[in-house]
Amino acid sequence: MRLSEEQLQAFDEEGYVFLPEVFSPEEVTLLRGEATKIYAMERDEVWRESTGVARTAFAAHTYNEAYRRLGAHPRLVEPVTQLLDGPVYMHQFKINAKAAFDGDVWQWHQDYGTWARDDAMPEPRAMNIALFLDDVSAVNGPLMFIPKSHKAGKLEAGHDLNTTSYPLWTLDRATVTRLAEEGGVVAPTGPAGSVLMFHCNLVHASPSNISPWDRRIVYLSLCHVDNHIRQFKRAEWIAHRDFTPIEPLSDDCLKDLIRPEAAE
Ligand code: SIN
Ligand code: MN
Repeated sequence: MRLSEEQLQAFDEEGYVFLPEVFSPEEVTLLRGEATKIYAMERDEVWRESTGVARTAFAAHTYNEAYRRLGAHPRLVEPVTQLLDGPVYMHQFKINAKAAFDGDVWQWHQDYGTWARDDAMPEPRAMNIALFLDDVSAVNGPLMFIPKSHKAGKLEAGHDLNTTSYPLWTLDRATVTRLAEEGGVVAPTGPAGSVLMFHCNLVHASPSNISPWDRRIVYLSLCHVDNHIRQFKRAEWIAHRDFTPIEPLSDDCLKDLIRPEAAE
């Protein structure tokens, strides 16, 4: 899958591109079912909210077959290869839960802020491509972006070890206010199966989910192979050390995992 000139331009100007309904309902049903099994596992990679529900599952592409294939899916890997202009490896892989009623916030941050400070990633030549496993709406804790904020470069940040169960380099309120006065705040929403790709310096956050609907999103954080991390402070399953270029699988690579009744 290749991005059009218009999409490339939108990414450059706004810092993100939304692609509706890239994956079929059958593919998404398969991945939702596997996510449920993963969240039920007692593993170091599955982090929980204070209430005990899953917050995120790291590195599922290393211990689940459907997610192994998703981690090399051409509909996700190829547009990023195009934007980063070369082969990519998996820096991080996570299935964020944002569970109904209990899903907690992600504070305002830039992903590159954490990748640079914690992992010594040399340049912002990495990015997220995200797949909605559920319908994402205004009410179930959507991802919020400050358009154009990627042009501000890597901003000053503080290490937040307390607000949520996941340590993050977060931005102060004055910075968020200044950037939002310029770019506004948007929350791209859409049906399950949609894909959202965003620049690693784009400022983003998400509110808590007090709706009765889950909001699960899978994030592939892909990095140009030349730009691999230099510091190995975090767990291997949070910041990967296998810099092998991803070889995209075939477009129908999930097909034989789909149960016949789900495909009807
Ligand atoms: C993130 O910023 O990495 C995750 C935010 C979310 O899933 O809401
Ligand atoms: Mn993030």
